[in-house]
Amino acid sequence: MFTIHAVDGYIETLYLAVYEDRVLLIDSGCRSDVPRIEEVMKRRLNRPMSQIALAVASHTHPDHAGGAPTLRKRHAIPVAAPKDINQWYAGFSGGLQHKIDIMLGHFVAWTLKYPFEMIYYKKHLLYDHPLKEGDRLPGFEDWQVIETPGHTSHDVVLYHAETQTLYAADVILKVGSGYRPPFPVSMKKEMRESIEKLRHLDVKHLLMAHGGPQQVTDFPAIVDAMLKEIDKGLPPGLKRFRKLERFSPVMKRYYRERRQAKKAS
Ligand SMILES: [Fe+2]
Repeated sequence: MFTIHAVDGYIETLYLAVYEDRVLLIDSGCRSDVPRIEEVMKRRLNRPMSQIALAVASHTHPDHAGGAPTLRKRHAIPVAAPKDINQWYAGFSGGLQHKIDIMLGHFVAWTLKYPFEMIYYKKHLLYDHPLKEGDRLPGFEDWQVIETPGHTSHDVVLYHAETQTLYAADVILKVGSGYRPPFPVSMKKEMRESIEKLRHLDVKHLLMAHGGPQQVTDFPAIVDAMLKEIDKGLPPGLKRFRKLERFSPVMKRYYRERRQAKKAS
């Protein structure tokens, strides 16, 4: 079996699932998190970087996929990512969304009073293993992939049934003492369905990218709290940023199809 080691990233938490002979990196963090991962592997775990046999990028955002290119290039770590990850930032408007998301990453760091770090990364992710619903992670078949669209069209979370552990990526966030959906919830209906889908899972250990690791006694209550928050909509402070999250070609298609469906009904 494995032990989980949290790595305090720039604006998110990463997790190392440390097995006897290999390590799984759960989410690839920001580009500037790579030295943090190297440091934890060397000093805390006393393991070479070559033991990281897989890095997962749960979705395309800078704090989840930004470290992957460097990990792949510098340490030859294979990367697993949702099969449609590169659709989100495709084309000119996708490129614009990519720039905006990097700027929002810097803005989050600034509001938290963190010093500036370089988080720029290429919008097109080179990855080795495409992931889809129900897949097992290559080399770590005890981890199951669950598709959870809503934040983006392609988010995935990871579930380890044997230890009742869920890595919730940007699907479940903890802010203060409450659980919240991410910003943005791009596709509300899909986000609700994704959260509902997780309800039946037996979860005792919740690993969050924003909120850290948590022991959980009543996971369905978290699901209910999340659904309530999604229905409430954005808090006033975030509303003004909503328009900045509509440039992905996937979202343009999504809005177009919704308009057409409305017209037809
Ligand atoms: Fe995200």
